[in-house]
Amino acid sequence: MKQVHFITELFDKYDGRSLQAYLDAGGFTALKKLFDISSEAVLAEIDASGLQGRGGAAYPTGKKLRQARAEKAARKFVVCNADEGEPGTFKDRELLKCNIYQVIEGMVIAGICTQSQEGIIYVREEYTNMHDEIRAAIAECYKHNYLGKGIMGSPYNFDLKLFSGAGSYVCGEGFAMCESMEGKSGRPRSKPPYVKQEGFLRLPTLVINTETLSAIVSIIKHGADSFRRYGTEKSPGTKLISISGKVNRPGVYEIPFGLTIREIINDLAGGIRNGKKGHFVQIGGASGGILPERLWDTPYTYEDLAKAGLSVGSGAIVVADEDNSLLDYLKVVQDFFRHESCGKCTPCREGNRQLRFIFDRIINGTATAADYDNLEIVLDVMGKASLCGSGKTEVVPFRTAQRYFPELFMTKECFVAKKAVV
Ligand SMILES: Cc1cc2nc3c(=O)[nH]c(=O)nc-3n(C[C@H](O)[C@H](O)[C@H](O)COP(=O)(O)O)c2cc1C
Ligand code: SF4
Repeated sequence: MKQVHFITELFDKYDGRSLQAYLDAGGFTALKKLFDISSEAVLAEIDASGLQGRGGAAYPTGKKLRQARAEKAARKFVVCNADEGEPGTFKDRELLKCNIYQVIEGMVIAGICTQSQEGIIYVREEYTNMHDEIRAAIAECYKHNYLGKGIMGSPYNFDLKLFSGAGSYVCGEGFAMCESMEGKSGRPRSKPPYVKQEGFLRLPTLVINTETLSAIVSIIKHGADSFRRYGTEKSPGTKLISISGKVNRPGVYEIPFGLTIREIINDLAGGIRNGKKGHFVQIGGASGGILPERLWDTPYTYEDLAKAGLSVGSGAIVVADEDNSLLDYLKVVQDFFRHESCGKCTPCREGNRQLRFIFDRIINGTATAADYDNLEIVLDVMGKASLCGSGKTEVVPFRTAQRYFPELFMTKECFVAKKAVV
């Protein structure tokens, strides 16, 4: 069982732009079920499924919804995080494109469960071509009372609109997203208070990933047990992955947790292009860890990846072959973070400038022992003292590269000695 269709059950089975077609395919049955069994029973089902947030942090979704519900305020918001700015990640795009009505249904369910009456789908600016279709789907739902006042004859109200980001990676972070929706430049705030307490307009805000919302609908529709048929005890269910790089069939696949990285690359993505040998993968986006080819038999689960110093992250897997230099790859990763750093905190803003200088010297072979020492200091400070997850997790690709390819991070003396031997 390599590829499965639990969350993607309706992909290509109906005209994704037609509400009627969605209804004919069983759409909005999860919402009807909520009206039958109560929001408390829905939350219990989500708890039982073991679903963890698919935006990167893997926080238990049931717990998160309960925390959002516990916040007391006259206005509360649910924000669907469709910013998808993590390089190599394009699975939320497929959910928006092929099954937008399921995302909307997930938003309504999340709104009712958390007693929030206003929702926003925050879509990355680069998905402009999809904005009109998403707005049209929202309008259809209003027209047929799946949004608005007294949804489907129930006492519940829920309003929904789309907000377009402006193309910044950091706006995927909850606070930066709220600032951006308030018309300010997208920069994270310091915590506490947390987004769930004082997010958009300083009001309680639940920021939840597009895939998490879609998974909620499938879980309520089919039951937590059906979800748990897939995966492992600690990583139950399925996950959408986006695989790219040097493979024959890049794309988005829904997999049960527990396949090995090698199975994903060979059996789903068609193996490495042009019969080349694999070199390494980066898992979870630009802030994800590097895993060498010799460890590709590691199962893709939260627990096994954690043992290897990695995480599932955004679900991205970027594959490099024997022709790709790891140092060149890391330089591109670092360029990305330097470009996207919002500049609010010193460790990330200045750390990125310093990393650039050091990396240039490592790549052109002029790095000194002091450069390697400074690399340690900069990574350490960034990982510990950056204000948001961007600076904090940027160190992960470098730390895992050091762990698995230590020869690339030698002192100048070692470097010269090795050159002399060669
Ligand atoms: C710099 C940065 C970028 C992020 N980008 C995204 C993103 O594009 N999409 C997303 O769902 N979560 C992103 N996150 C994580 C969100 O802040 C948040 O944890 C997530 O949307 C919560 O949803 P979940 O519980 O469903 O995972 C990002 C976090 C950081 C620090
Ligand atoms: S870690 Fe980077 S992106 Fe995050 S607040 Fe600091 S400067 Fe901005």
